[in-house]
Amino acid sequence: MPEITTTVYADAALPEALRPLLAAWEKTCFTPNEYTWSRVQWRVIVWDGGTPVSHTGVVARRCMLDGQPLPLAGLSTVMTPPEYRRRGYASAAIARAGEFMQEALRAPFGLLVTGPDRVPLYARHGWQQVDDPLLVAMPDGSKRRMTAVVMILPLAGCPWPGGTIDLCGLPW
Ligand SMILES: CC(C)(COP(=O)(O)OP(=O)(O)OC[C@H]1O[C@@H](n2cnc3c(N)ncnc32)[C@H](O)[C@@H]1OP(=O)(O)O)[C@@H](O)C(=O)NCCC(=O)NCCS
Repeated sequence: MPEITTTVYADAALPEALRPLLAAWEKTCFTPNEYTWSRVQWRVIVWDGGTPVSHTGVVARRCMLDGQPLPLAGLSTVMTPPEYRRRGYASAAIARAGEFMQEALRAPFGLLVTGPDRVPLYARHGWQQVDDPLLVAMPDGSKRRMTAVVMILPLAGCPWPGGTIDLCGLPW
């Protein structure tokens, strides 16, 4: 039975052979919408044996919560191509990304945006849905309130304080 493993790459250090594969997965897995998305800084790749089967992006950003600076770690671009779904691969990527946010980034909280149907997937890994307003930048520099589900991962043992979240840049 092939072994499931995960690797975290800084985006600049991603093996070049993976870039076209990830670009193809993105086309298959996501529909373009009104947002321009932030570039990811790290990439978690899940391997089944030697085959890449799932991806999660991670970003780190100084954001604002109710006008006060707050560093956040972001989970982004969670995707498994259709032929590999429902085998726990995305779950492996989400779990590894959470560890990376805690141990390497030392962020107090992770943040992701998603749709209502994906909430159980993230909740199984400790992510909590919150109702706080989320402000994101549009390409023209204006700010907009995003209406997606916002989920937070407490990483330092403190409860989420709540408040208006400003990502201070493009969404992830
Ligand atoms: C969402 C997505 C990343 C999930 O990827 P995945 O690798 O299938 O995820 P997992 O296998 O870890 O979990 C998916 C489901 O399969 C179930 N599952 C996991 N292992 C399983 C197994 N061995 N047998 C049967 N089901 C299994 C999980 O319990 C989960 O159930 P849920 O949908 O009720 O929550 C994938 O469907 C995708 O790329 N979708 C399009 C892009 C997208 O929406 N990304 C998320 C943006 S927020």
